[in-house]
Amino acid sequence: MENKLFPESLDIYVWEGKSDIADRIAHCLSSFDVQVIRADGMSVTRDIVSLRPSIAVMSVSVIDRGEFSAEDWQKAHCMPVIWVAEVGRTANPRVYPTEYSHILMRDFTCAELRMLVFRLAAELHANNAPEHKPQPLIAQSECMQALVAEAEAFADCESSVLIMGETGVGKERIAQLLHQRHGRYRLGPFVAVNCGAIPDGLFESLFFGHAKGAFTGALLAHKGYFEQADGGTLFLDEIGDLPLYQQVKLLRVLEQSTVTRLGSQAEIKLDFRVVAATNRNLREQVQQDMFRADLYYRLAVIELRVPNLQERGSIDKIAIFSALLGQTYDEIPAPPDWLLDLVANSRFAGNVRELRNVAERVGIIYRQLGVWDKVRIDRVFTMLGSLERADDTNDLLVVRKKGELAERNRIIAALDANGWRRQDTAHAIGISRKVLWEKMRKFQIADTEAVGEAD
Ligand SMILES: Nc1ncnc2c1ncn2[C@@H]1O[C@H](COP(=O)(O)OP(=O)(O)OP(=O)(O)O)[C@@H](O)[C@H]1O
Ligand SMILES: [Mg+2]
Repeated sequence: MENKLFPESLDIYVWEGKSDIADRIAHCLSSFDVQVIRADGMSVTRDIVSLRPSIAVMSVSVIDRGEFSAEDWQKAHCMPVIWVAEVGRTANPRVYPTEYSHILMRDFTCAELRMLVFRLAAELHANNAPEHKPQPLIAQSECMQALVAEAEAFADCESSVLIMGETGVGKERIAQLLHQRHGRYRLGPFVAVNCGAIPDGLFESLFFGHAKGAFTGALLAHKGYFEQADGGTLFLDEIGDLPLYQQVKLLRVLEQSTVTRLGSQAEIKLDFRVVAATNRNLREQVQQDMFRADLYYRLAVIELRVPNLQERGSIDKIAIFSALLGQTYDEIPAPPDWLLDLVANSRFAGNVRELRNVAERVGIIYRQLGVWDKVRIDRVFTMLGSLERADDTNDLLVVRKKGELAERNRIIAALDANGWRRQDTAHAIGISRKVLWEKMRKFQIADTEAVGEAD
């Protein structure tokens, strides 16, 4: 079952000698979109380069066997490593130089593993964000030019901005534009957080950070998102998906601009700008008591609405299509008029993101055949139409499914955080034991998912 707890699907490379670490990792992450690659019998240095996993898990026994030094490995392969060890870092500082910040004890629990992987995945996602490889923002239509002008006018101020717009219209792009045009904050980080995928049990630790030893498994101090964004922009994506009880926690920090790490007394003063985005109608959510009015007013000091592609018209559709086609294949000639007409006359329910996918598919057809094959290209657009019609009926289903996945993630994380004790978990999320049991049945959450706890 695919579970979108992580921003992208993850490959985790495990190198461990003769233990069951890979099995336990695979088991703990079995319901997530994660692939565990085992090093058994592979030539590590060669294979790891071709596989390009996102995260590596290494047993320190590999280092102890003297096959290579940890420094060499880290220098050669720029990816985060989780070191699995028998003893704590302080017990043997020689084995764990300072850069080994991610350490799991050999008897790790599923909760500890998920927490670490979730954090690393979020960091990887932030580092891969398009701000690091700036691409032009295409805005030729009048309504889009007006929006960009408005964004630029408000960019160099401290006020919070709420960006609204349908899925795939480019809300994150506008958030990056605001960041890049700020006199001071552009020199700091742009930290993007998907608020729709934060499990309860991890919320405080991820946003506020934690002090060393704040809870079992907190081997080192960790900066939360607020602190990571200090001096820059905190981008709260999908803010409308944040449940009410998490909204109140955010509000406190946003109002005071100070954060206190879990397990610490010290208040840390911060300076950052908040940009939030949503494809929901937040005002309506406020009226329906699904979104806190005070948080809404705190976030929406400036409101920007990104028009959808249909409103932008053929001028933007063609400009974006042509630019994206050029990105897929360097030597592609200008597309013929009939193809541009097809683009101009199509509706893209998934907006720029969907148009990008179409451009990619058309680019592949051209690359394979060396001609603009009308029959095959027509088929790409016909599929688009049928998808769109299907969307009308399936929209609700999709939305419901997304919401359910988020709820399932939250329940698993709460179970994790409470050692899979149902009474404590139910209490922590404010529902009865019976309701929790019903939800576990509905979302097919089995106690066996907690197998790491019993190890
Ligand atoms: N004006 C634009 N010019 C070029 N590329 C764009 C433009 N707007 C969006 N894109 C591209 O389209 C894709 C979707 O954009 P983005 O992620 O910013 O949309 P979004 O509104 O945040 O979507 P979602 O609601 O799904 O979070 C990205 O690949 C982005 O780079
Ligand atoms: Mg987005």
